[in-house]
Amino acid sequence: MAERNRKTKLSIIGAGNVGSHVAVYAAGKGLADIVLLDQNADKAKGIGLDITQAMAMASNDRVVIGTGDYADTADSDVVVITAGLARKPGMSRDDLLEANAGIVRAVARDAVKHSPNCVLVVVTNPVNTMAQLAYEVSGLPRERVIGVSGVLDSARFKAFIAEALSVGASRIDAMVLGDHGAQMVPLVDHCLVDGVSIRELMPPEQIAAIVNRVRHGGSEIVELLKTGSAYYAPGTATVELLECILKDRQVTLPCAVYLEGEYGVDGLYVGVPTLIGAVGVEKVIRLHLSEAEQRDFDLSVAHIRERLEVLRSKA
Ligand code: 2OP
Repeated sequence: MAERNRKTKLSIIGAGNVGSHVAVYAAGKGLADIVLLDQNADKAKGIGLDITQAMAMASNDRVVIGTGDYADTADSDVVVITAGLARKPGMSRDDLLEANAGIVRAVARDAVKHSPNCVLVVVTNPVNTMAQLAYEVSGLPRERVIGVSGVLDSARFKAFIAEALSVGASRIDAMVLGDHGAQMVPLVDHCLVDGVSIRELMPPEQIAAIVNRVRHGGSEIVELLKTGSAYYAPGTATVELLECILKDRQVTLPCAVYLEGEYGVDGLYVGVPTLIGAVGVEKVIRLHLSEAEQRDFDLSVAHIRERLEVLRSKA
């Protein structure tokens, strides 16, 4: 437990586009003092100075300290892992599997050695598998190792529906479960606009086109950027999760968590609705899926399991 008056500490491993945007958004919200670690220490230091100076302008007392030394991350309440390679055009998240596995295993070990009481938030792709590796090497309980997946995918789902119906995204309830990849599961039968099912508002072919666009929402941006993957929405999604943990919000968010029998899945990181608070995952929420949603969920789980087995067969 945090002692009285102790300041909240957040460490972010990896000062690439996602890591630095998590830092600037989290500092902007005043969530914590932040340590930004990168193997390129000077890059992390430069970004830390830049963000700290931006906060001073905004009368925000939070600081971001850049470093290359894990000792500076000691006793963090939350550690976010963004380190690893991002996709280039033509690549799927699965193509990053082996390269990022080595990075995430090493980072999770080092981070938890210095912050044994932290909640570990994993962003590196393919995120379901990277969260699983971080869980296995860290020895932390499952409540404290969470992958960022469905918050981002659900935001994309909302944005595309909002565009199609010319309504504000805030009027839409939408959730995406399963893998964070082409086999993700946008829950069409649970998707509501002002409380009305999208099935009442759009023809099936338009819904199918949106589902397909959500499933490839990350790739659409990779193809446009040409030099890497998205970071504004992934950074915002990560900070949404961090805020719920650091402020003990007790909000239900779709996250990749280690299932132990829930949804009929055992021993695997899968995106499901979870209640998030200071503990990390306070509870896995059981949602009753429609037949079509359950079929897609099962396919998604099979893909996550297969990817993990591919990795294990190469170890
Ligand atoms: C995305 O979907 C980077 O996986 C991330 O944009």
